[in-house]
Amino acid sequence: MQIDSQENFFERHVESYMSLTPWTRDQGLTDKITGAVGTAQGTCVELAAGGGQVASAVGTGSGARWFAIDVNRYMFPVGGDGDIVPIVADGQDLPIKDDAVDLIVCRSGLHYIGVDRALREMARVLRLGGRFVIAQKVADGLEDASDLAWFREVQRLRSVVPREWYFSERLVDEFARSGFSQLDLVTHDESYEFDLDQWTGRDGFFSQEVSEQLAKLVERGRDERFARRTGCHFVGHSLTLRYRWAIVSGVLG
Ligand SMILES: C[S@@+](CC[C@H](N)C(=O)[O-])C[C@H]1O[C@@H](n2cnc3c(N)ncnc32)[C@H](O)[C@@H]1O
Repeated sequence: MQIDSQENFFERHVESYMSLTPWTRDQGLTDKITGAVGTAQGTCVELAAGGGQVASAVGTGSGARWFAIDVNRYMFPVGGDGDIVPIVADGQDLPIKDDAVDLIVCRSGLHYIGVDRALREMARVLRLGGRFVIAQKVADGLEDASDLAWFREVQRLRSVVPREWYFSERLVDEFARSGFSQLDLVTHDESYEFDLDQWTGRDGFFSQEVSEQLAKLVERGRDERFARRTGCHFVGHSLTLRYRWAIVSGVLG
């Protein structure tokens, strides 16, 4: 089966997604996100939740009632304390009343939902003064246009569906324009190693054509100057990609 839709992409289930996605094991990232959240109370939503790891990490102990929302029925909270309620819904059209939510968190989900629509829905369902914390991979460090184009193409081929790519300052501006304030930005830089064979050998998950395109693209990572500039290098079958995360937080109103 080839991937021709988002559902296909994630239908190998959350465990498979998490095993192929090294940053789901990045404790430093989780710590920065939970640090930005602080104490969660009231009605809390993890958007584009996947395995619901952020909700699990923040926890329900403080009186928070967590809902993990994801458009794909294959993605369900794993681990945690079992108190996280999964809901299958689109982040563009949440099945939640206006002004009903105290906190929204989202890690690596905005680029799927689309920032305009996601922010509109977040502003609708959050109560005035309600908080959000989102974490997105951003392209801040890639100043050379051809490096950026290379990176985006690798991401596009790998994920098939992501449509948007952000720079952190512009992401903060989007929130400011959408009615949020007290905005704060924390960044997190980390390199992750991917085994190209695992990527391209997902039981036929990638088409032959995509596998070939990826294999060709990552060859550039063998160039030392490119690797120094971008932090992305390719040795043997191992591709290392350096990512910057933007962790943006703020309140509605
Ligand atoms: C890269 S994964 C991130 C999962 C999880 N947040 C994490 O950090 O591990 C993106 C998730 O967004 C979900 N997703 C994609 N489009 C969505 C949409 N329109 N509404 C809600 N969830 C969506 C996918 O099903 C997937 O679980």
